[in-house]
Amino acid sequence: MQNAVKRIGVLTSGGDAPGMNAAIRSVVRSALARGIEVIGIRRGWQGLITGDFVQMDSSSVSRIINRGGTILYTARSEEFRTEEGQKKAAATCKLLGLDGIVAIGGDGTFRGAQALSRHGIAVVGIPGTIDNDIVCTDYTIGFDTAANTAVECIDRLRDTMQSHERCAVVEVMGRHAGYLALYVGLATGATAVLVPETEYNFDEHVADKIRQARLGGRTNFMIVVAEGAASAMAVGEEIREKLGLDPRVTILGHIQRGGDPTAKDRVLATRMGHEAVRVLAEGGTNKVVIDRNNEIIAMDIDEGLSMMKTLNGQEFEVMRAMTGQ
Ligand code: F6P
Repeated sequence: MQNAVKRIGVLTSGGDAPGMNAAIRSVVRSALARGIEVIGIRRGWQGLITGDFVQMDSSSVSRIINRGGTILYTARSEEFRTEEGQKKAAATCKLLGLDGIVAIGGDGTFRGAQALSRHGIAVVGIPGTIDNDIVCTDYTIGFDTAANTAVECIDRLRDTMQSHERCAVVEVMGRHAGYLALYVGLATGATAVLVPETEYNFDEHVADKIRQARLGGRTNFMIVVAEGAASAMAVGEEIREKLGLDPRVTILGHIQRGGDPTAKDRVLATRMGHEAVRVLAEGGTNKVVIDRNNEIIAMDIDEGLSMMKTLNGQEFEVMRAMTGQ
């Protein structure tokens, strides 16, 4: 069979995530192995609008598998949300002779992919976000690294909280999703975890949990707050006013988004990049590559994005059991 796909583009969009470079590398090398040329689109969807591109070859992705961030830069493009912006992006694809695009990013990136595929461009998405909030895939690239970074930071906090018999309030990322907070809360034995999916109630979600821990003999406490659940500073203030403790508040912030990807993220990214190229090479479009039970497969983006956002019930159960609720 003749290979109709001759040249593809690859881009990273939205918040960066450790392992995005490994995914770019895999896309480039997997495509070259099939005789397909690769163009790197810089600065996400915005770069596709402005025609900001770079030719990729095997050596342009050497020594990046271990590096955090993204060599292609990333952006959140307002213009690409408009019909006009999408038309310009589709025109760039035609001008450059791109037969398809691999878009690495989160939820917003996939909405962009859906839009571009409606303009007749073949697009395959790869989930890359530390939030792990793409429901159709078990894991997103970057989550494992971010979770391990947060766990390391919280373990350090715990040492000093334990020595001073204090309460720590630590904010982790997750404006709309509490999965990262829940996961690191479980891994660090947190006293309480606040997630944006549940409406914040100080008495129920913080005071009761600290009280239970104190009655159980503890003199130091760890409250993990997802950034979208409540303001960590405000939670700290309430603890001071209502419980008479002297808490210390730490906001981990973008520390969680950087750093060398873990082995798990590198391997996941490499497998997903390889699958994305296979799908494009075989004429697929409007697909997202997912990890389901450690099998890397492609599914329809529309179907993937329509799946309900829920936190894993079993993890919530374990969390409740561990915090005595
Ligand atoms: O989507 C990834 C993420 O890191 C979220 O957890 C966080 O809320 C957001 O990006 C922060 O975005 P920015 O880097 O634009 O401040």
